[in-house]
Amino acid sequence: MSSEPLYPNYLPTRPDGYATPTALPPFAGDEPGLRADPAKPSLLAKGASVSCITPRIGTEIRGVQISQLGKEGLDEIALLAAERGVVVFREQDFADVGFDRQREIVKHYGPLHLHPTMGYPEGTGPEFHVVYADEKAGNLRTLLGARTTYDLWHIDQTFTPNVPSTTFFWVLESPKAGGGDTAFTSLTAAYEALSPAFRETLHSLKLLHTSASEGEVRRVGAERALAEAINATHPLVIKHPVTGKPALFVNPTIARQVEGFLPEESQNLLSFLHNHIRSLDFSCRVRWEPGTVVIWDQRSAGHSAVPDFEDNERRHMVRMISYGSQPAPVSLSE
Ligand SMILES: [Fe+2]
Repeated sequence: MSSEPLYPNYLPTRPDGYATPTALPPFAGDEPGLRADPAKPSLLAKGASVSCITPRIGTEIRGVQISQLGKEGLDEIALLAAERGVVVFREQDFADVGFDRQREIVKHYGPLHLHPTMGYPEGTGPEFHVVYADEKAGNLRTLLGARTTYDLWHIDQTFTPNVPSTTFFWVLESPKAGGGDTAFTSLTAAYEALSPAFRETLHSLKLLHTSASEGEVRRVGAERALAEAINATHPLVIKHPVTGKPALFVNPTIARQVEGFLPEESQNLLSFLHNHIRSLDFSCRVRWEPGTVVIWDQRSAGHSAVPDFEDNERRHMVRMISYGSQPAPVSLSE
């Protein structure tokens, strides 16, 4: 790799250094998906090409420009992402509409998450999360060190009372030799795959979520990550705020302790669930093409990077995360 980046104005900077993780004060989340027309006329318009990636997760759309949608269309995206876990929009101009318009569109879904350590484009702020790899900066494998596999299934930033909801991730530049897909798994289908008897045992449990995640420990060191950690407790099974469906709200990198369990009990149960959510039965893999924007609902889908590209390759992506409501348990009468 010797060429210049295609989007030099989106290179990551962090002039103010790493910040301390903070939580927004709890608020009643506005869920735009609840306002949406269930027929989704703006997305399923004539001329649009819409297909399922698998029956259980993922919808791919061509022929609709996100940047041209009004408020109703943006609401429909929230509903579709809630229902399908992830929505892949192809041939978008989103990467070229500018920082202000990008911010305005994602803010439609809720307050934006300010990342404490990820870099952002110069002149913007930590609501832009730049994911950047090249031969000098390294990649996720460099960050995590030697391992047998770099699967790292998780839900982003769930250590706050209100949790991330509709999330945008778009590509600026992909590795020339391929690779760097993103994988998604349906947390509702993962729940439905369990027996009614086993589900019953999970409903009363809660998980402790912490900002001292694997990634943050690698970035700032264990001592600082633990000293500055903020934590939240959420039900292990949540009722999705838009679809009402139960979702297995497990987060292997951030939620590693079942409230009230002894360490071995916690480890054994979570180890089973963490393996369970990786199943190919209800996951999919999204291949990035120029102009792809992926939008997912963090309460419906978990995800993992697939850092399988060569060390000398450049991969340049941007993510923005909005916050939704506070996770609620499934009531036993339901
Ligand atoms: Fe992530």
